[in-house]
Amino acid sequence: MSSPDALRALAVEVAREAGMLAASRRRQGVRVAATKTALADIVTDADREVEALIRDRLAAARPEDAFLGEETGSHAGSTPITWVVDPIDGTVNYAYGIPAYAVSIAAVSGPPEPSSWSVLAGAVYNPAVDEMFHAARGEGCWRDRGRIRVNSEVLAAGALVATGFGYDPATHAGDLARLAQVMPLVRDIRRMGAASLDLAAVAAGRLDGYYERGLHPWDIAAGVVLVEEAGGRVAGLDGGPPGAAMTVAAGPAFFTDLAAALAHPPR
Ligand code: IPD
Ligand code: CA
Repeated sequence: MSSPDALRALAVEVAREAGMLAASRRRQGVRVAATKTALADIVTDADREVEALIRDRLAAARPEDAFLGEETGSHAGSTPITWVVDPIDGTVNYAYGIPAYAVSIAAVSGPPEPSSWSVLAGAVYNPAVDEMFHAARGEGCWRDRGRIRVNSEVLAAGALVATGFGYDPATHAGDLARLAQVMPLVRDIRRMGAASLDLAAVAAGRLDGYYERGLHPWDIAAGVVLVEEAGGRVAGLDGGPPGAAMTVAAGPAFFTDLAAALAHPPR
């Protein structure tokens, strides 16, 4: 097994190449190839092509590792490492030409499930603005060549918090009720449309906190190690692991308040 830093370096290299492919396909024009589970849950030809490139590059560099990708599913490996990949996170932004989408690549050990994995390294690359967020366990978190950290204090006037609304329409009423619970804590709310970039923004101190339910392993794998290595916390409800039921991320000072506001959820 390689060091977290070697895994990080590979994630960065592949995310950059994949992001440049996504951006070039974006310039050529994007076609929605299919609607998946709901109206907002779309896939473009580029999602599939970018995931194929990532899968090929990772298999060439580390053929024994396992893989889990949003568009092509999983294959088993013979090492403890699984690469957890979202080829384009923020596909709706991508389809509409909003420059907030990212390639997200993480190396995890253990089962590729937020309840039991340990995320060793991750890279989140937004090619539209050429920003690479990356971290390796025990080595800190970086934006390009600069070290980044979560906000350690939240101004008295309130926190800047991002959230998202899962694709399942049955969850929307509950999500809106939950937002009402959080509003008294905040200076303002953002819904930017790419979970990996929301987590990267918490790591960089561009947000004080972020929460969302309905997320998949590939939405959060890289972002978890970004936030934790930037000095923040990521968890689910009641301090359990993050995952589909809830993912909360913030600096240590604000995390407790945000988690408390979400602790008694509406349906
Ligand atoms: C989605 C984005 C979005 C979040 C959804 C995710 P996708 O990922 O991260 O911000 O609200 O829950 O599924 O489908 O664009 O890869
Ligand atoms: Ca995606």
